[in-house]
Amino acid sequence: MIEVYMKKAIDIANRGSGFVNPDPLVGAILVKNEKIVGQGWYKFFGSERAEVMAIKSAGEDTRDSELFINIEPEIDEKYDEYISFILNSGIKRIYIGIPNPRVGRGGKAEEVFKPLGIEIEYGVLKNECEELNEIYTHYINTGTPFVFTKWAMTLDGKLASRTGDSKWISSEKSLEFVHHLRQRVAAIMVGENTVRLDNPLLTTRLEGVVISNPLRVIVSKYGDIPLNSNILKVDANTRTLIIASEKIAIEKEVELKNYGVDIIKLRERQGKIQFEDIVKALGERNIDSLYIEGGSSLLASAFESRVVNKVYAAIAPKIIGGKDAITPVGGVGIEKMNDAIRLSRVTHQIIGDDVIFKGYI
Ligand SMILES: NC(=O)c1ccc[n+]([C@@H]2O[C@H](COP(=O)([O-])OP(=O)(O)OC[C@H]3O[C@@H](n4cnc5c(N)ncnc54)[C@H](OP(=O)(O)O)[C@@H]3O)[C@@H](O)[C@H]2O)c1
Repeated sequence: MIEVYMKKAIDIANRGSGFVNPDPLVGAILVKNEKIVGQGWYKFFGSERAEVMAIKSAGEDTRDSELFINIEPEIDEKYDEYISFILNSGIKRIYIGIPNPRVGRGGKAEEVFKPLGIEIEYGVLKNECEELNEIYTHYINTGTPFVFTKWAMTLDGKLASRTGDSKWISSEKSLEFVHHLRQRVAAIMVGENTVRLDNPLLTTRLEGVVISNPLRVIVSKYGDIPLNSNILKVDANTRTLIIASEKIAIEKEVELKNYGVDIIKLRERQGKIQFEDIVKALGERNIDSLYIEGGSSLLASAFESRVVNKVYAAIAPKIIGGKDAITPVGGVGIEKMNDAIRLSRVTHQIIGDDVIFKGYI
């Protein structure tokens, strides 16, 4: 049952998806006499703590209960108030999924709670809890965003037809998967040519949930973006950031800024803006996660700089052919198979007619 309760904590933690960054997703389940008596989740950045919400939702009935929480609580603010609240609740044991890389005042949970007579057990559904907060853990440890890539390709390995048409390679169900990913991340990125050819919105579109749109990030050295592009339609909930070269013409910069977009200028090296510089700049702006959607040239650049942490690839049962039709990762490529980037912890799932492949670098 311990795993069942932790799985529930993970499920409700996910309700904060898109709203808590750069904090972790947290879910808490309170159990007494083998019955769930309370539950809570971290709703948005700065909101009430999941475990506090869980205890409050249980009302009076919390003495000798057990708390399941997917990540170790980090207690900094209102420390004394928090400790007395937990003590007054009468919780006897806390099951924790993973340790928190950021330790609060008073130290780790076991250092704080054990002396107070509360038992602590770490490692319940460790792998699932790790994946749930891989963004948070990476960002706290490195200060740069966790980088996902996701592309949809045909069975013959093409990202688009020879004319650049890619709407749509994958099934509607896989497209829904994309929108869940967009909901989760702080920023989504495409290259200038994808903006020109696809004119994407890059917003999150999901039924039945409150939407969180990621920051739209476009890599465009000299700001050569059609002025009727959807990404230039900006408001408080759909913002755009252009990563440009420091050599961008001042008139271009002013013109784009007049549309309400933000611009970061980075130096060019060997004709490119290096991804190491891009992730550093985004990390400094509290962007904990970046989802690179394409196209081929941008993905090549990201892989060359070795900033990619996780790959999703949707493979659709369609064949389009064409030696000039681009493949997901362009660039010059490697010479020898021995130099290939190898993925680990590989899994796949079938969504609609497509296979979605997942692996880590
Ligand atoms: N099936 C899918 O999942 C999917 C997803 C997205 C896009 N697409 C397709 O992909 C195609 C577009 O791909 P693409 O390769 O032509 O274009 P792209 O990657 O979208 O954009 C290429 C542009 O970005 C610039 N760029 C890339 N990396 C850069 C870097 N590190 N620094 C500065 N500039 C950089 C390139 O500059 P340089 O010219 O200097 O290299 C080029 O101007 C479209 O047909 C679109 O439909 C498919």
